[in-house]
Amino acid sequence: MQKPMQAAAIAELDNVGVTYTNGITALKSISLQLNRGEFAVVLGSSGAGKSTLLRTINYLTPPTQGRIVVDGLRPLSKPQVLRLHRQRTGMIFQQHQLIERHSALQNVLMGRLAYHSFWRSLLPLPQTDQQLALDCLDRVGLLAKALTPANALSGGQKQRVGIARALAQQPQLMLADEPIASLDPTSAHRILSLLRTICKTDGIAALVSLHQVEFAQAYGDRIIGLAQGQVIFDGPPSVLDRHTLDQIYTDPTTVQIRQQ
Ligand SMILES: Nc1ncnc2c1ncn2[C@@H]1O[C@H](COP(=O)(O)OP(=O)(O)O)[C@@H](O)[C@H]1O
Ligand SMILES: [Mg+2]
Repeated sequence: MQKPMQAAAIAELDNVGVTYTNGITALKSISLQLNRGEFAVVLGSSGAGKSTLLRTINYLTPPTQGRIVVDGLRPLSKPQVLRLHRQRTGMIFQQHQLIERHSALQNVLMGRLAYHSFWRSLLPLPQTDQQLALDCLDRVGLLAKALTPANALSGGQKQRVGIARALAQQPQLMLADEPIASLDPTSAHRILSLLRTICKTDGIAALVSLHQVEFAQAYGDRIIGLAQGQVIFDGPPSVLDRHTLDQIYTDPTTVQIRQQ
């Protein structure tokens, strides 16, 4: 019998694995739950499987093993069900993925497209969507830049537009893949603090991948340590010790060379 998801859980991964067509196994038997209002950080070195994990939860890379169950929506392999899941899942990327010649407002409105049919989305979106997009820009402190083209914004401002766009989806789950990787430390703190505050206020479950320990410890309620496609730590930052960090950041190729 299938065990019920805990009340706070929005998504559950059960024994999830991903092997790419080139034979690389990026994720091995991942089992975890993502909970409402929890700011979880995935920590891992380059190639550990962080991006694959985030993409798999949104089925951009479907799992080749195991199962993902999202709050009241199954099965995700069914196109109509997946559409609903993606509507309510905000994605934030390292390189913002904004349309550079479009205004901040037009970029944020992209977050509303999933709520409309293809034909309807070719027309200007309804007033309620426009108002929602402006509210989202206001929440990230960029209302005054609503009509500024993305290419005239700084890196930090672009990422704030990226957050506003994800927020315009009114998500229950936020997936952010190295959202601060291309920012200076001051902007990085500002972005993580903003993202955390918004997710906490709205009760959104957040899964944010990072590779810097100090940021993960400063902002994460929970740290999920990934190494070679496996979860090797899952707990609060207070119990993340030196030994575990060494495991997360040990490059297996270096170990092999050292052992020779
Ligand atoms: N589209 C892909 N096709 C084949 N292999 C991939 C693909 N994307 C990632 N990989 C491989 O999967 C592993 C995990 O990659 P990734 O999830 O990008 O890790 P991270 O985000 O932690 O750097 C790496 O070995 C990478 O080379
Ligand atoms: Mg990555």
